[in-house]
Amino acid sequence: MSRRKIVAGNWKMNMTPTQAVELVNTLKPLVANDEVDVVFCVPAINIIPAMEAAKGSNINIGAENMYFEDSGAFTGEISPLMLVDAGVKYVIIGHSERREYFGETDEIVNKKVLKAFAHNLTPIICCGETLTQREQGITIDFVRQQIKIAFQNVTAEQAKASVIAYEPIWAIGTGKVATTEQAQEVCAAIRVCIGEIYDQATADLIRIQYGGSVTADSAADLFSQSDIDGGLVGGASLKPDFGKIVNYK
Ligand code: PGA
Repeated sequence: MSRRKIVAGNWKMNMTPTQAVELVNTLKPLVANDEVDVVFCVPAINIIPAMEAAKGSNINIGAENMYFEDSGAFTGEISPLMLVDAGVKYVIIGHSERREYFGETDEIVNKKVLKAFAHNLTPIICCGETLTQREQGITIDFVRQQIKIAFQNVTAEQAKASVIAYEPIWAIGTGKVATTEQAQEVCAAIRVCIGEIYDQATADLIRIQYGGSVTADSAADLFSQSDIDGGLVGGASLKPDFGKIVNYK
């Protein structure tokens, strides 16, 4: 089964609007690659200037988060309608930092996933275990639970179009990249889980990224695993190295 690779940058809380435009302009020629979907998920305030700067290139601008309501008294939140109007297609949902620092539960993640689909946005749904969970040997059980709740009431057609990012928390921003075997094992288990919830066709089509300290050196090995369809990249997405990650072959 050959799935189109998707490499997404997660800028997190970095870059002012001015810096965002500069970074898009710097990376534009470096990330040119027609064989890979390239997404820059940027802070909300940078979406419009980054979108302008990326015009005419292969870069898709995505969001790092959104709320599960269309509008209303939710001070500080960003609605899916705002993202769609700005031209966004991808939105990261349930990143471990949102779960850890902003109290996002699996149930909230599920609401956001359903809302994203209601507006034809493609969610990049994050999952992944802590170091303690890995040491206790419950990684796969834990990630399967995250996936099952995230996909509650999601149709097979929607699931086929979604992206999952497997990001072991102990590998995020730590420089400790999971081994290719560890990453492949969990991504394969996620695909099996999707096959159980839906069917083999859905499991074959859904794209599963690995994330956690991906660098230009580790990308080729990781992305050539049979169940890893690209990466969600934090730190290295802010550097020219991101071009090497997109052009990993
Ligand atoms: P990292 O972040 O590449 O800096 O480890 C990945 C992520 O959190 O998406």
